[in-house]
Parts: sequence; structure tokens; C-alpha cells
Amino acid sequence: MSLIVVYNLKGGVGKTTSVVNLSWVSAQQGPTLVWDLDPQSAASFYFRVQPQKKAGGKHIFEGLDGLIHETNYPNLDLIPGSFTNRKLGNLLVDQPAKTLKKLLKPLAAQYDWIWVDAPPTASELAAHLFWAADILLVPLIPTPLSIRAYETISLWLQKKKGSLRSVRPFFNLVDMRKSLHRRLVSEYRMDHPEFLETLIPQAAAVEKMGEECQPLLMFAPSHPAAHQYQALFRELAVAQQVDL
Ligand SMILES: Nc1ncnc2c1ncn2[C@@H]1O[C@H](COP(=O)(O)OP(=O)(O)OP(=O)(O)O)[C@@H](O)[C@H]1O
Ligand SMILES: [Mg+2]
Repeated sequence: MSLIVVYNLKGGVGKTTSVVNLSWVSAQQGPTLVWDLDPQSAASFYFRVQPQKKAGGKHIFEGLDGLIHETNYPNLDLIPGSFTNRKLGNLLVDQPAKTLKKLLKPLAAQYDWIWVDAPPTASELAAHLFWAADILLVPLIPTPLSIRAYETISLWLQKKKGSLRSVRPFFNLVDMRKSLHRRLVSEYRMDHPEFLETLIPQAAAVEKMGEECQPLLMFAPSHPAAHQYQALFRELAVAQQVDL
């Protein structure tokens, strides 16, 4: 089982969009679970599963197995979002460091891939997710503020050294017609070998997921952005084998 936590301190960078599309791709290859840990419950919305009070907050400590729902897609399950997950950061403060890791361990035999849609927070929840993750996948927009957020995360992770095997950022919402995007993408990837090569373009079709309530790969499988999500998954799978 590979646990991929999709995280950024910064909001609106494409965490949920990435989780929904990449989990759909991984489900074509093996049993996949999405854990919607964001109180906004946007991943659950895209999968047309209702958020559930009892799927979050203190209820997770009773075990995750009973919280799992099927989605409309084969091989793809979901732990729905819950507004009570807004309290998780505080609930984890007094818990031993490896709590989320321990909670996920019994699911390792059931799933090849587990994707966590993490909220944009710097709370104790993020620290626990760093400890649990095999890969921390960080979507970034090629803008100075987004890159600044990545540098903040990198410094924080260094302080928690040994907790995470691999951090893999990638650029999303890329528009190569903009000189700023072209410059930041090439400069930053040169200095940071951990960056994945695949770029996800800014595309109206991706935004349309909100209307379709489906992964992009379901309603527009031949769109160039859909091909890029496939490529991103392949690159991530290879990176993960190298890193572990
Ligand atoms: N490649 C893309 N092209 C066009 N729009 C995109 C792309 N990626 C994400 N978006 C849009 O950007 C918005 C934010 O995306 P998303 O909800 O995935 O970000 P997020 O990081 O999960 O946000 P939050 O921090 O609020 O959880 C959404 O409206 C989404 O449709
Ligand atoms: Mg989100």
C-alpha cells in the first residue's frame, strides 16, 4: 500500500482536483481509497457521496474500517468528509505522534493506493499526516506566493526530519503563454530535483469537474489535461518505487 497525502499550506492550488483525478487513475490498476480529511468535503462532492458527521472528528479513533463507502467507480472507495474534521488538529495534539499512521495500518492489506485530501492547514493534523505519508504530493501554482508556501513547508519538514520519506511537488494551473509561468517552472525545477516533471495545464475542462461531479478522466478522457493526470500518476508511481 502506498499512502499519498496531497497537501499544501496554501489553499486553492488543486489538492482536491488532483486527489480526485489521480485516485481514479490508480483505481484502474488496483484497489484505491480516498480519505477526504478536509472539512470542506470537496472530494466527497466530486464523488457524489454525502459528507457525514460520524465519519470525522473523534469518530476516526474508533477505527476507519466502518467509515468506508463505495463510490460509483469500481475499485475506488471513499472515507467521506466531515465538518467535524475541523477539530482534528486539536484532537491530535495530545495523541502519540504516530496515531494516523496506526489508524491506517489495518487498511494496508485492502488497498494498493490510499490518497488523502488534506486541508490547507499548518495544524497538528498536518504534522501527523507528514508522519503517516509515504509521499507528500504538493501541488503548486507557478507564482511567487505559491512557491513561498512550498519553501515554508520545506523548512517545517526539515524540523520534523525522519518523518517523511519523500516530498514530491508538481506544478498545476500552468499557462505557458505567461512568461512568469515559463520562467518559474524552468528555474524552480532546475534547483529542486524533487519536482515531478509533469505539468498540469490550466484548463476549463478541469474546472468543469465541479458541474459534472466526476473525475475529468470520466467525462473528457482524451482532453490533454486528462493525459497529463495519467502521466503524473505514472511519474509518481516510478518516483515512489525509487524513493521507498
Ligand atoms: N488544472 C486546472 N485548471 C483549471 N482549473 C483548475 C485546475 N486545477 C484546479 N482548478 C480549479 O481551481 C479551484 C481550486 O482547486 P481545488 O479545489 O482542487 O484546490 P484545493 O487546493 O483543494 O483548494 P482548498 O485549499 O480550498 O482545499 C477549483 O475551482 C478547481 O476547479
Ligand atoms: Mg481542497
